Amino acid sequence: MYQDGDFRVSRRQPHGERWVLVTAPLTTHLIHPADSADAAWWRHAVIYQIYPRSWSDASGDGIGDLPGITARLQHLKDLGVDAVWFSPFYTSPQADAGYDVADYRDIDHLFGSLADADAMVAKIHELGLKVIVDLVPNHTSDEHAWFKAALAAGPGSPERDRYMFRDGKGADGSEPPNDWNSVFGGPGWTRVTEADGSLGQWYLHLFDTKQPDLNWDNEEVRAEFEAILRFWLDRGIDGFRVDVAHGLVKEPGLPDYDAELHILDGEIKDGSPRPPMWDQDGVHEVYRAWRKVLDSYGQPDRILCAEAWVRPQERAVRYVRPDEMHQAFNFDFLQTQWRAADLREVIQSSLEAADSVGAPSTWVLSNHDVVRHASRLGLPVGERRPNGIGPDDPQPDRELGLRRARAATTLMLSLPGGAYLYQGEELGLPDSTDMPAKYRQDPTFIRTKGKEIGRDGCRVPIPWEKDAPSFGFGPGAETWLPQPEVYGEYAVDQQVGVEGSTLELYRTVLRLRHERQLGTGGLQEFEGLGDDVVALVNTGQGEDTLVVANLGAEPVALPEGAEVLVASGELTDDGQVPTDTTVWARLA
Ligand code: GLC
Repeated sequence: MYQDGDFRVSRRQPHGERWVLVTAPLTTHLIHPADSADAAWWRHAVIYQIYPRSWSDASGDGIGDLPGITARLQHLKDLGVDAVWFSPFYTSPQADAGYDVADYRDIDHLFGSLADADAMVAKIHELGLKVIVDLVPNHTSDEHAWFKAALAAGPGSPERDRYMFRDGKGADGSEPPNDWNSVFGGPGWTRVTEADGSLGQWYLHLFDTKQPDLNWDNEEVRAEFEAILRFWLDRGIDGFRVDVAHGLVKEPGLPDYDAELHILDGEIKDGSPRPPMWDQDGVHEVYRAWRKVLDSYGQPDRILCAEAWVRPQERAVRYVRPDEMHQAFNFDFLQTQWRAADLREVIQSSLEAADSVGAPSTWVLSNHDVVRHASRLGLPVGERRPNGIGPDDPQPDRELGLRRARAATTLMLSLPGGAYLYQGEELGLPDSTDMPAKYRQDPTFIRTKGKEIGRDGCRVPIPWEKDAPSFGFGPGAETWLPQPEVYGEYAVDQQVGVEGSTLELYRTVLRLRHERQLGTGGLQEFEGLGDDVVALVNTGQGEDTLVVANLGAEPVALPEGAEVLVASGELTDDGQVPTDTTVWARLA
């Protein structure tokens, strides 16, 4: 184990007009104690997100499907992840790419059948990986049997009480019940036509008009979702990613709140009043009940992971108290600017907050709702993260973005706790940033009339083979969103076995993370390498790994005696860590 002062580093430092060589001892301080070596699987798992529409298409209709996924699962085994999370594959009119569920117990015909799902889950388990499915409890589709029944049954009925129906304001009820907006733009309420043809009540939809919010004060809603949990648990799945976990319970009385809603921006600023639709205390009771359902399935643990865009972190970790969920996405980390001080701060505060409730932290850089980090990090540092990039927007620097993305991932995967990867990031895939408007399908783009570009750019089908139709995504040439020409260069077959490729970097880093038990390690901050560097020691289960991410303009020397294990980019001729590069080294 490393002792303070054991290591020294020599580096060039500005001194008036000149640079001088200084040698300084290094010190550390502990920011997170180690977990036990036999900690439950989810406390250190790396979970890979598959967006079923865009991973692999067996049927040839240009949309991915479950048989397509099953045929390519070996990719994940070779990559070295521990689990797979599937974005929704349930029966759905696809108004929000499946996050509008019409039947929670069946598979959409686009993706296959329940038998296909069973075969896929069996194959994943055979490979020794776990399976996590998406659960969407905040809203259903307007084509769900319950919503149809609610429309038919009329005001005051038990069917309507499962949703958030209200009478409108004004003498004739023609104004919405309050001023809430939809996250996707436009009003958060839609007025219905009653069975007799008259204009009637309004229903709340925090998202698209086709995604009516459920009423979580209704006991039938609670019972139904517990039954849905059991349905999938009985089919052998290992956990759930819980969509919009912070939205289920609304403040009583639905008070006005006319701000624009940006779920993806974490718009809840520290110290500002809590918006009445997000992060209400009552939501935790729901997750305590779900935890009991999951725990009743015994060992190994089945898990819940919260998608909760909640700030500050002290509020966010309330979702992962010991009797609630197991994990929550760390969106603060995803949103951190590419600055060493910001990264050091978010790593430390995330671990402290998670440690305060005994949960592991998680780490994530990309998903199906944000600009891929290989593109995001190619935009100027310090600017607001855009909701999609279109052809008329400033374009990211592709080379710089990839370099930084590789460094960011190498840093992320050195951190203790769970980590989430999004399909295609292991290829260094950039967003599609020049997609013509006519192809766009994100309701955000449609509802804001293009003011917000939205999320299609990160959802484009994955390239597997450079010279095949649709780059090997499926037998057909067409894909549901067009693939940029440049995706061919990133295809899996261009990277497998190629030294220095992003895919091989991910494989190496994941193998070393596993071998060196970094997921359960303790974490120390290593001081003395300079302000523009994130320097950490992951103590593993006894063997230290030094992690140096250099975000500064000058190369950084490693401590004397450090032996490089992996680097996100080439080192300088004299073995220093150049700008926008992360290195793992053995401290022997
Ligand atoms: C979550 C999903 C997003 C979806 C929204 C509404 O944020 O990740 O894709 O549009 O919820 O369900």
